[in-house]
Amino acid sequence: MTTAPEAPDILSPEFAADPYTAYDAMFDGPPLIWHEAMRSYIVFRYDDVARAFKDPVFTTDNYGWQLEPVHGRTILQMDGREHSVRRALVAPAFRGQELREKFLPVIERNARELIDRFRHTGNADLVHDFARHFPINVIVDMLGLDRSDHERFQRWYTSIIAFLGNLSQDPDIAADGLRTRDELAEYMIPIIRERRENLGDDLLSTLCAAEVDGTRMSDEDIKAFVSLLLAAGGETTDKAIAGIFGNLLAHPDQLRAVRADRSLIPRVFAETLRFTPPVHMIMRQPAEDVELRGGVVPAGSTLTCLIGAANRDPERFTDPHTFDVFRDDLPTDTAFSAAAQHLSFALGRHFCVGALLAKAEVEVGVDQLLDAMPDVCLTEGQTVVEQGLFTRGPVSVPVRFTPAGR
Ligand code: HEM
Repeated sequence: MTTAPEAPDILSPEFAADPYTAYDAMFDGPPLIWHEAMRSYIVFRYDDVARAFKDPVFTTDNYGWQLEPVHGRTILQMDGREHSVRRALVAPAFRGQELREKFLPVIERNARELIDRFRHTGNADLVHDFARHFPINVIVDMLGLDRSDHERFQRWYTSIIAFLGNLSQDPDIAADGLRTRDELAEYMIPIIRERRENLGDDLLSTLCAAEVDGTRMSDEDIKAFVSLLLAAGGETTDKAIAGIFGNLLAHPDQLRAVRADRSLIPRVFAETLRFTPPVHMIMRQPAEDVELRGGVVPAGSTLTCLIGAANRDPERFTDPHTFDVFRDDLPTDTAFSAAAQHLSFALGRHFCVGALLAKAEVEVGVDQLLDAMPDVCLTEGQTVVEQGLFTRGPVSVPVRFTPAGR
């Protein structure tokens, strides 16, 4: 086992500018890489990443140092009954009847309100004017928190995500994340106490009323859950929506097809998740020594799983570097379930519990945006540039269009 000879280093500027070329080069090297600066083993082939997500020997104890300092203890680092009972508290709100009847109107309203701000102008930046706000506004409303605090939550979740992705241990980013933890606790704890006395029809009330094995969750426990939902539900869907438009604008024929047939939106979402995933890296910590292709990963070490690479494994996907809404090796009926072919929601017991909520947000958001922007195209002279290592997405998607109805 050696360091990959040709792929640029994960922490290098070349990698940050274009991880996809680097991923491609990795497939010519050994399947298991030791990264000295990150103090982590790295896997990137589809089967190895899928195994790390599914095999319980790969624990999520790493979230103890990755996320607990900023969120508190969350379901991401739990397993067994402790995990499944808490997960079951929020799962119904994110799928099926409850999602359709209670929260779809919230999603539709938030999309409309954001688009109303620019629909008559003929231009927009789909990241700054829409994607960045939409999912966070939705989750704040689902929790029954004050709508006037949308911007405040925006800042908090950006800081939390930066903390999570702080691979080079920038002290300013670390300090900002810890400040956010304190601010969010100061904000949330009094609201949680008040909500316990006045339960409503919202998701925060569900958490406040829930009993886990006969005891109510503590204020701190609920605050940690809310903190996770903001981060997990915000940045990811934000980057997915921006990525969808980035990819479609780069493939005008596919944009035309989706505009004409909106039932293709789930396909565009699934292919965007595969091609340009919002979360590129996820870590695991083996409970015991594990033999993988290429060597042994020792118990207690950190294993970094490169989702962005696995989703482009040539042994798994035909023409992996081609964005193709019509590809036949990425079925949409499973793309938002734990049987998904792409790995962008992970797999196994921690498979993204918000996947169907994200799908509903994307279906509504993309549909309304296409209606408002009949001839959308990239503003002249602009390109879509992606940024981020851990989570990744377009920095901006500046577009112009003829306002609908003119
Ligand atoms: C495109 C959008 C999204 C992507 C790409 C995404 C990605 C992921 C991934 C990769 C994981 C697994 C983490 C791991 O195994 O270590 C995860 C878990 C999770 N996601 Fe999402 N997510 C998205 C949307 C959402 C939304 C909208 C919510 C809810 C508001 C959400 C809430 C969660 C939660 C609570 C977990 C932890 C589940 C558990 O530990 O059992 N996600 N997500």
